[in-house]
Amino acid sequence: MITLSKIVENLQDRLFNSVVSNNLVYNTCWEDPRLDRKMLQLNKESNVVMLTSAGCNALDYLLDSPRHIHCVDVNPAQNYLLELKKALFTNGNYSLLWDFFGEGQKTGAEVVYQRNIRPLLPTAAQEYWDSHISYFTPSPTEPSFYYKGTSGKIALMVRNRIQRKGLYNNVLQLLNAQSTKEQAYYFFEIEPLLWNGFHKWLISRNATMSMLGVPAVQRKMIEQEYDGIFNFIRQSIQRVFTQLPIHDNYFWRVYLTGSYAPDCCPNYLSSQNFKYLQPRVDRIHTHTSSLIQFLKHHPDTYSHFILLDHQDWMADAKPDLLAEGWHHILNNSSPGTRILFRSASPSADFLPPFVKKHISFKEELSSKLHPQDRVGTYESTHLGIVQ
Ligand SMILES: C[S@@+](CC[C@H](N)C(=O)[O-])C[C@H]1O[C@@H](n2cnc3c(N)ncnc32)[C@H](O)[C@@H]1O
Repeated sequence: MITLSKIVENLQDRLFNSVVSNNLVYNTCWEDPRLDRKMLQLNKESNVVMLTSAGCNALDYLLDSPRHIHCVDVNPAQNYLLELKKALFTNGNYSLLWDFFGEGQKTGAEVVYQRNIRPLLPTAAQEYWDSHISYFTPSPTEPSFYYKGTSGKIALMVRNRIQRKGLYNNVLQLLNAQSTKEQAYYFFEIEPLLWNGFHKWLISRNATMSMLGVPAVQRKMIEQEYDGIFNFIRQSIQRVFTQLPIHDNYFWRVYLTGSYAPDCCPNYLSSQNFKYLQPRVDRIHTHTSSLIQFLKHHPDTYSHFILLDHQDWMADAKPDLLAEGWHHILNNSSPGTRILFRSASPSADFLPPFVKKHISFKEELSSKLHPQDRVGTYESTHLGIVQ
């Protein structure tokens, strides 16, 4: 018999699937590549497989000059976003890259796109951006690309609320604070005004979580750990803003202000790195497919797998698929292959039992680095090395 909770779960899954399969969900990566690169130890021999998300972290890893980075995503829009970033590098004008992805806006974006960028894109990406390039044209109500896509829409709602409450200047003071002590001062001034009924309501909606790219199973994981999603988000935000330096926390800055700053942005956007990345972007290859399908069709020996938190999407609900994924990963690895992932769960207990026989986990390193994570919304980070 199908229970009511099963029906609700199915509806949540359908809502999530329709959000992530038809829309740009992630307009910026939400995992900290500074820690990743310490764990991955990439070099010029590296042959990397990773999930695309917004493509920022693939470009970050490229600074270590790996041979290939295969970016795989089931959502084609995520790959088109990375293709657009690659095309801006190939075009060779740093200030245009900064306008699009540093400022998140370019007046006359359509014209620049047609003239300079479109010819550098693969056909499918051209078709997508022909009807979406206006994401970069600023308007008074939607001033930035970082307020587009489903996660951007949630960020915009929060920012509008902050502005309506007259708290925007306080937020800027917080972002410009020079010490964690000063940050904490501004944060605790704002916090009581932040968590009103509206924000509690917004955060507890399934629709909000789907738009942020958090499926029902992952949400359940968080709820079990934290006595509700609201407590989790509240504690994560408090920790990030009061205990970690905010001056280089570009993850939160971009959603609060709509843009990065030259001294607070992903590495791929810094002017000094442009000359290193421009000749290397062709080493990034995008693939629209599930990870399993990609490995079935591109068998090879890969040196690194970066799985982000996507296993949470399967851990409880689809253990067979999780196991199948790991069989493919192990079949396409060799001793020394590094596998990195994060989770909303405090441990990696969800892994199929056979995985631990083939992999040694570097818990000392990953748990030392995990608290420095500038995103701050994951419960654990794991680095495995194939034996
Ligand atoms: C797992 S999500 C999480 C976002 C992430 N934490 C970040 O850094 O932004 C990242 C991407 O993985 C894709 N994805 C999820 N499961 C996948 C799978 N089995 N195969 C390929 N892509 C997948 C999603 O479409 C999404 O764009």
